[in-house]
Amino acid sequence: MPSVKLVDIVKRFGTITAINRLSMEIPAGEYVCVLGPTGSGKTTLLKLIAGLTVPDEGEIYIDDKSVVGVPAEDRGAVYVPQQYALFPHLTVLQNVAFGPLSHGVSDEEALDTARAMLEMMKLDHRADSKPDELSGGMQQRVALARGLATKARLLVLDEPLGALDARLRVELRDKLRQLAKSSGVTVVHVTHDQAEATSIGDQIIVLRDGRIRQYATPFHVYMRPQSLFVAHFVGDANFLQAIVAKRHPEGSILELHGGLLVKVQDSTYLPGEEVVLVIREDNVKIVESDDQIDSNLYNVVEGHIQSSRFLGGFVSEQMHLVNGDSLTSKTPTTAREKTFPAGKQVFACFKASDTMVYSYPPIGLSRELRVM
Ligand SMILES: Nc1ncnc2c1ncn2[C@@H]1O[C@H](COP(=O)(O)OP(=O)(O)OP(=O)(O)O)[C@@H](O)[C@H]1O
Ligand SMILES: [Mg+2]
Repeated sequence: MPSVKLVDIVKRFGTITAINRLSMEIPAGEYVCVLGPTGSGKTTLLKLIAGLTVPDEGEIYIDDKSVVGVPAEDRGAVYVPQQYALFPHLTVLQNVAFGPLSHGVSDEEALDTARAMLEMMKLDHRADSKPDELSGGMQQRVALARGLATKARLLVLDEPLGALDARLRVELRDKLRQLAKSSGVTVVHVTHDQAEATSIGDQIIVLRDGRIRQYATPFHVYMRPQSLFVAHFVGDANFLQAIVAKRHPEGSILELHGGLLVKVQDSTYLPGEEVVLVIREDNVKIVESDDQIDSNLYNVVEGHIQSSRFLGGFVSEQMHLVNGDSLTSKTPTTAREKTFPAGKQVFACFKASDTMVYSYPPIGLSRELRVM
């Protein structure tokens, strides 16, 4: 169970700084998920940890030993790449057994391990196929089985479930975590999928432009995002421009466009400061009449429905508020007997305790929230 520590790492490709003065520590046995927009440096970070690329600056330690220049196998690490490269001339079973064989175990033991991993990946029935006879998702599972079969103590996984359908992805992500926890390995797992990161990560790293924007438990990243960007990237939220109108020790009053006043719990900012009010979509309730709601507990804002979308487990409704702002609400389908038609007059309700407030970004809100 190795621990991993990066200190002041810089990795450049020509004029691009892929990793920019990044420091972090992963305790032994932890399952860490890395989230971030495309090009934010996720793959580069994994390659640095696994020993497939060397940093321009900084130090990397595994179990407190400096490993810069030490190859992956001597770090006890295995890297499962984003673009899985299987050996085309070997069968699926031989591909998976290759990992343990190259670590010097007997043929019999390697094949037993390979069969167990293929069973876990639900591919035991394709053990004798060649990789090019498999679908993309199947090939990805073979690559993952091959990585797991090495029994490396440090697993470095780059979008290991990215090519799978939603149902299989959920099943395998849970199995991956169980396997990691029962065999006591340390895992760094890159994913584009927030739900994957929040459901299996002990901790989540949010990366942007080669820097860590937050490194915390899934609960903290979701409930206490450290920045507007993290609030935007993890979970669906509304972002409304505002000015602090009044400030009390127990909260503030914000003025939105058109003079609309709302109560928030935050009291960090001073009257007159430009801020951004953030409300998670699932914290916005829509009601037909304002006597259905306790206005001491909720901010109640009039508006009309712009559009409704049925998302399976959720209904997503876009509202146009009286002050000209837009607000989206996400309600569990079970909590809703009907969706509201476009144009219907309704009230959006949200609690002061469910709001988050951030300083208005100097580069502007849309640039701050960009994910490309
Ligand atoms: N070998 C390379 N040569 C030149 N530039 C590179 C190389 N590898 C990565 N980069 C650049 O470094 C930055 C980070 O790339 P990286 O592959 O780490 O991003 P990523 O977060 O994994 O993105 P994605 O989600 O698309 O996989 C990008 O701007 C990329 O173009
Ligand atoms: Mg990548």
